[in-house]
Amino acid sequence: MLKLNRRIAAIKPSATLAADARATEMKLAGIDVISLAAGEPDFDTPVHIKEAAHAAMSAGQTKYTPVGGTAALKQAIQQKLKRDNHLDYELNEIIASAGAKQAEANLINALFDEGDEVLIPTPAWVSFAAMVSLAGAEPKFVPCAESNGFMLEPDALRRAITPRTRGIMLNSPSNPTGAVYGAEQLTAIAKVLVGTEIWVMSDDVYEHVVYNGLPQHIFNLEPRLKDHGIVFNSLSKTYAMTGWRIGFAAGPRGAIAAANRLQSQNSGNPNSVTQAAAIEALTGPQEVLRPMVEAFHQRRDLVVERVRRIRGFKLPNVPQGAFYVFPNVSELLGTSFNGKKIIDGDSLASFLLDEAHVSVVGGNDFGAADHVRLSYATSVENLNKAFDRIEQAVAKLKK
Ligand SMILES: Cc1ncc(COP(=O)(O)O)c(C=O)c1O
Repeated sequence: MLKLNRRIAAIKPSATLAADARATEMKLAGIDVISLAAGEPDFDTPVHIKEAAHAAMSAGQTKYTPVGGTAALKQAIQQKLKRDNHLDYELNEIIASAGAKQAEANLINALFDEGDEVLIPTPAWVSFAAMVSLAGAEPKFVPCAESNGFMLEPDALRRAITPRTRGIMLNSPSNPTGAVYGAEQLTAIAKVLVGTEIWVMSDDVYEHVVYNGLPQHIFNLEPRLKDHGIVFNSLSKTYAMTGWRIGFAAGPRGAIAAANRLQSQNSGNPNSVTQAAAIEALTGPQEVLRPMVEAFHQRRDLVVERVRRIRGFKLPNVPQGAFYVFPNVSELLGTSFNGKKIIDGDSLASFLLDEAHVSVVGGNDFGAADHVRLSYATSVENLNKAFDRIEQAVAKLKK
């Protein structure tokens, strides 16, 4: 048996990437699979951003840069945080990394240690728990009721805090639920966290994919949290730049300096050409976002309507952001077809891939086993086709 590092051996591959990989394999085998598994916009990166990359390459910006990004990129991030979130950060309080994912892994590793607990309100993005475990700390899940829109209740938070609690991962709009916290809810959560030494990690990567205006930031509502808080953001979802790999974190100087040291030893600067493209994305015309968000909005309405028509799929809350729906499929548990029994959202996802050739992600790794996540980052035509197929497949399931 191959002997691996204990922490690496314990982690599973990302469920969302695994679901997508299986769908891609089937497509390569000639099967017409529709993927509702992907966590990325189906739009192309806007042209002016690509042109900035071409120009950077032509100008020879192909060398190492400072580890945490060029000063010009940090200035662009600084401006963005001010413009969109009304948050002030110095340049040495900002680090650019290869995606929000790397920024989060850096800070989680820099701040948490063995014996520390990090709270993860669930359902949650699959990677938070894995990152916390990889750092040697303990993920502690705080379930959020569907009847409360999958949002963290201040009392539940209060009860979850122990002397060992060192951090909390917040994510609004949420992957996978699409829940967006309002100012009142954030203020109530902030009240519990202010005055503690708990690191408040705010993952804002879907902030622009919202249907009721840009949400307020928890650090803006309660500025004292900024002293023990980190903002994470990314260009992946906002500017349709998932493959470019660029994201960032902002927070207190000591924490960012530690992340910088880690990144300097682990990987170095994020891609230099991508950095130039990111400056253009962040400081160039922001109107390019509008058609993408409008398209997501229309699809959200369509998808909510179609999901609610499927027998056994329940979607009590209309998601207000991101590009996912996370229906409850518990009514289908115990049904079967051709010897395939539905015992949870994961087995339903396998069934849908086999019978409907539609790829979705089961809820287990998000911390909500009786759910499936469907992404609507695909065309209306694909969505309609996928839902026709899902309806037909689900009709075959019998008790
Ligand atoms: C909540 C959340 N945070 C972070 C990320 C990572 O984004 P990036 O592409 O910037 O690494 C994702 C990607 O799916 C996400 O859903």
